[in-house]
Amino acid sequence: YERPFSFDHPLRLYKGVWMSEKILRGTLVMQQCFKSRPTDIFLASFLKSGTTWLKAMIFSTLTRINCSLDKHPLLTHNPHQCVPFIEMQFATGRRQIVDVIPSPRVMSTHLPYFLLPDSITESCCRIVYIWRDPKDVIVSMWYFVQKILGGPDKMVTFDQFYEFFCQGLNSLGPIWNHILGYWEESKRRPEKILFLKYENILQEPVKYAKQLAHFIGCPYSETEENQRVVEQIVELCSIKKMKDFDVNKYGDLATSSTDVRISMAYFFRKGEAGDWKSHMTKEMAERLDTLMKEKFKGSGLQI
Ligand code: A3P
Repeated sequence: YERPFSFDHPLRLYKGVWMSEKILRGTLVMQQCFKSRPTDIFLASFLKSGTTWLKAMIFSTLTRINCSLDKHPLLTHNPHQCVPFIEMQFATGRRQIVDVIPSPRVMSTHLPYFLLPDSITESCCRIVYIWRDPKDVIVSMWYFVQKILGGPDKMVTFDQFYEFFCQGLNSLGPIWNHILGYWEESKRRPEKILFLKYENILQEPVKYAKQLAHFIGCPYSETEENQRVVEQIVELCSIKKMKDFDVNKYGDLATSSTDVRISMAYFFRKGEAGDWKSHMTKEMAERLDTLMKEKFKGSGLQI
């Protein structure tokens, strides 16, 4: 195709997954060299599924004893600095960074489950997975790619982007295999993978912040003080607050596998459920829902 549909094009197909050459190279090195620690926590997600939000939530939950909220690291460091993408560090020659993070390390990945190093899948470290209605993922991704490439005239239209998405043609696509890979494993090993949905967290953030804390090994006991703390963390990590911090308004993503500048502001747009209704026709929405239903058939997973 003449016009790009991804910020990290050209994409290559590797074992059924579309990915940039740089990320693929990083992934292969990581599979050989990465050594997980039993206390490691990984946040795994497909792109545009709420990764930045969950990074902030996990980081602030884990550090809540040592960090007062008025001098919190998230006020001066963006969530991707606090919780680095592992494959990106390997893709850009900064793999030493992951070795010097003190335990318990929190790292994130956009890789599908089956491409994770054995050291992660076979150890007792934990994985939090967040997924989101793919219709909203497309919309979010389309805006994101547009911002990076410099506007709609530099890339495909929304309708073309949608077509590519339905063929699984986007970074780390197809999305259905990504979601299913983590879902199946979370059913087999619920103690290893916490499987969360963006829309559910939006509806009941305090409930899920508590569940998250329990899963990563720092639960809240039922006290009024703890209730106040969890509500403050939810507030600190809300899109309204986060998009207003200077570090997120004016800073850039610390490490990117692309040569283009990725501003942190691109990671905070609407933060809502159902924005697809303003971008897709009824037919487009139904077609994608039917596609997802077919892919999820028999798995017990529903959109
Ligand atoms: P929208 O483009 O639909 O607004 P990721 O972090 O995986 O790249 O996902 C980005 C999406 O998460 C964007 O969705 C962004 O606005 C949303 N988001 C970022 N921070 C958020 C927060 N604190 N709460 C809810 N949504 C958030």
